[in-house]
Formats: sequence, structure tokens, C-alpha cells
Amino acid sequence: MPDTTSPTGEYLLEVKNLKKYFPIQKGFMRRTVGNVKAVDDVSFFIREGETLGLVGESGCGKTTTGRLILRAYQPTGGSIIFKDRNLGAINIPELDKRHMLTLRRNIQIIFQDPYSSLNPRMTLLEIVGEPFILHKIASGKEIKDRVAELLKKVGLRPEYMTRYPHAFSGGQRQRIGIARALALGPQLVVCDEPVSALDVSIQAQILNLLRDLQSELHLTYLFVAHDMSVVEHISDRVAVMYVGKLVEMAETEQLFGSPLHPYTEALMSAVPKPDPRYHDTNILLEGEVADPANPPSGCYFHPRCRYATPLCKQETPSLREVRPDHFVSCHRAEELTLAGVTATTVTFKGKHST
Ligand SMILES: Nc1ncnc2c1ncn2[C@@H]1O[C@H](COP(=O)(O)OP(=O)(O)O)[C@@H](O)[C@H]1O
Ligand code: SF4
Ligand SMILES: [Mg+2]
Repeated sequence: MPDTTSPTGEYLLEVKNLKKYFPIQKGFMRRTVGNVKAVDDVSFFIREGETLGLVGESGCGKTTTGRLILRAYQPTGGSIIFKDRNLGAINIPELDKRHMLTLRRNIQIIFQDPYSSLNPRMTLLEIVGEPFILHKIASGKEIKDRVAELLKKVGLRPEYMTRYPHAFSGGQRQRIGIARALALGPQLVVCDEPVSALDVSIQAQILNLLRDLQSELHLTYLFVAHDMSVVEHISDRVAVMYVGKLVEMAETEQLFGSPLHPYTEALMSAVPKPDPRYHDTNILLEGEVADPANPPSGCYFHPRCRYATPLCKQETPSLREVRPDHFVSCHRAEELTLAGVTATTVTFKGKHST
């Protein structure tokens, strides 16, 4: 694995050789017959104040990675070093129960589905105000004031706080989810496909809200998505995952302009074409995503890769830094010239930003 250790300690989060294997159990005795290697030796870092996009097809391990960071799962191996403002630099999987409560204040999540992630029996006041009660931070009238403030921040009217989630649209519900996630002033927010369930017209509004809140509140994001154009719009750097492994990681402009991994190239060509910058060659991602319980030999991408050679079937490439800050795991990274897009000024669904 490459050494992604920061000489200056500038990283807010540093994930090293992270693994999560889910056992596959069969029969009456529930014998373990194999493992789903959902996250398999993944290393990356996130600098304070930036957004790292984590992208890949469904099933490649993005949500599991996010859940490991939140300590919803205990990893099979590896470390997750987080610079907590109260606890200092800690390894999340080793944290004891008492300190977990503190950590929960500083790492929060925004979920994909704003319909199932909000309790339908709770009012907005209860949903957004609950973290203050759980963490014994405020009570009574103070909670009301804080909730009103949060609702305003996410573009909702404070008068709505007595209503229930069913009274709101998908985009509004996601705003409620964001308000709850931000209630305790987190340092890091894991955004797990926060716009994937929303209408395209609403997606840009939520992405822009997340960006505005990031600069106002000095937030750091791990932004998970399967859509390259969404990731491009919001990320400072992007990490690409395939079947539990990281295959490429670079600054957004680098990754989109000069991708080094054939999977990244194929993902970009799969973007629907209203955006003319995405080339029309349409490198189809043929075949299914490999099964993480039974991955192919060598490079996991080889059955779908149009550049594969016999070596690719035999040897698994490891992630290496090919250019400064540009990591890739492909045997042929130096010799291939792959198609990218000019990603300096991003046009996203009619919304213009840089
Ligand atoms: N709790 C679980 N038990 C067993 N397998 C799981 C569990 N959660 C996820 N997986 C499997 O791990 C792989 C990665 O899943 P996930 O992290 O949800 O991917 P993504 O978010 O990229 O779609 C998939 O093959 C999925 O079926
Ligand atoms: S290592 Fe080989 S199969 Fe894998 S992405 Fe590179 S060229 Fe394709
Ligand atoms: Mg997911």
C-alpha cells in the first residue's frame, strides 16, 4: 500500500488498510463458507475542510466504508485515525463506549433516502432537536431556538417545526436530515448518496446547500455517490472504488481531465450526455460488477477492461502514487492514454459554478 501518511499531520481523517469482510454462513450449523469482502485493504485520507468524493457502481463498498467510519461496524482490519476536536487523534475502531458518545458529536451522517431515514411519528422539532437531548446539550426553550436556527440554515421555515415529515417533499426532507446531522456542529459529515433519491431538478439545490454550509460551518465531507457528474460538482478530490478496493484517487480536475484507471474512464463515459464535455465514445461497462465474495483473479476489473493483458489476469495491481497526489492501481497506468473531460468549470444540470 502507498504511504499516505502526512508529514505535517494535515489530515482530518486517515484510513489505512481498512477491511470489512462479512461472513457467508450456510446450513443449520451456520458454518462460515466464505466472505463477502465488502471493503478490502482500502487506504485514503481527507484533509480538513475538503470534500472527498467516493464513487463507484452499486455494491462496491461505499456505504460499508462510511459505516466503518461511523463505527456502525467493527472492521476486520485496518485503522481509521480521526483528529477529534475533543479527544485528539484517535483510532475509531479502538474507541471505548464512553468516548464514542463524544465522537458521535463530531462525525455525522446524511442518508440516501430521506423517506426512510426520518421517523414519521416525530415532528421536525423532535427530529432535529433529539441530538441535543441525547447529548444533554440543551433543553426546553433553548432546543426550540436552536432547531429554529438550524431550519433557517437549511432553507426551511421555523414555523414548520410542529409538522411531521410526511408534509414535506423529498428535497425538503433531505434538508431536515441535513439540519439534524448539523445540530451538534460536527467536524466530518459522511454524505451517503444524499441526492441519489431526488429529482434531478432538486439535486443541484441540495448540492449547493451542502457547499454553502461547508464554507459557513467549516465542514469536511466524505461524499459518496455512484454518479460521476454529481461527484465532480462537489468534490475537491475523488476516490474511485471497485469491488471493495480503491482503484484511483486524485484531485478532481486531475482525475476527470487525465484519468489513469480504465474503470474511471468507463464510469465517465457512462454519464448521461446532456453535459457535452463527457465524450461520446461510450465505453460501455459491459458485464456485471464482480462478486465481492468470489472476485476474479489478478486485477478485479480485468473481465470488463478493454486494455487487459495476460498479466492483468494473474497479478493484482496495488495502489501507487504515479503523479504527486494521484494514486492508481493499474499495471498499465504509465502507458495508457485515457479519455477524460476538461473539468475546470463545472456545469451541473443547468447550474453554474466553479
Ligand atoms: N451487513 C451486510 N452483510 C453482508 N453483506 C453485506 C452487508 N452490507 C453490505 N454487504 C455487501 O457488501 C458489498 C458492498 O456493499 P455496500 O457497501 O452497501 O456497497 P455500495 O454502498 O457501494 O453500494 C455488497 O456486495 C453487499 O451486498
Ligand atoms: S490492471 Fe489491466 S485489467 Fe486492470 S485496469 Fe489496468 S489494464 Fe485493465
Ligand atoms: Mg451504498
